[in-house]
Amino acid sequence: MKPPFVITVDGPAASGKGTVASGLAAVYGLPMLDSGLLYRAVGVLAARAGHDLDDAPAAAAVAKRLTAEDLTDPEFRTRGAGEAASRVAVHPAVRLALRDLQLAFARRPGGAVLDGRDQGTVICPEAPAKLYVTATPEVRAERRWKQLTAQGEDVTYAEILADIARRDERDGGRADSPMRPAPDAVLLDTSEMTIEQAADAARRIVEAARARWESTS
Ligand code: C5P
Repeated sequence: MKPPFVITVDGPAASGKGTVASGLAAVYGLPMLDSGLLYRAVGVLAARAGHDLDDAPAAAAVAKRLTAEDLTDPEFRTRGAGEAASRVAVHPAVRLALRDLQLAFARRPGGAVLDGRDQGTVICPEAPAKLYVTATPEVRAERRWKQLTAQGEDVTYAEILADIARRDERDGGRADSPMRPAPDAVLLDTSEMTIEQAADAARRIVEAARARWESTS
């Protein structure tokens, strides 16, 4: 049977993937899952409960108890939350605990947009449209720095560049579900693009995939 029309948007922190994914969700009228938010919530809630983030069983217990209502806390958007997320995301037991929720979203009959690191490789390798959004570390650091200082965080560009390098290494180097493009993902480098240009380029890539998906039975 024909799979639902799922678009996966993977890539490193501050590559523009979140903006690209929400733009695509609006264009195609599809619900969107920000899977990074799940890991951010587990990282923050585990730290709040006093757990060491290297304690895999403790973090997995937090992940198992996670509900949709837990996902609205603004603290999950902070710099510290991103770091905590990538630390708990290395634990296979945490990834397993969050898997069913992501699979259920990916299998919605009407389709979906999935934003993350492993959506095209692990969660929904059968997705008809896959993007891998990248940008240089310097461009990503500049974007993230502007975003965080606008939120009131007191942080320097150099600190953010170091965060990004550390996060890329941890997310790309872990054994379970490392960040990488699916073999059939289309790469979109947004380093020299405005938000509008990145959104347009993403839409063209997805249009081509949608035409192929429509022509299959
Ligand atoms: O996308 P975002 O920056 O919110 O993700 C936070 C962290 O969560 C990532 O650095 C990564 O470690 C983890 N993550 C993951 N798998 C996903 C989404 C996010 O490991 N599908």
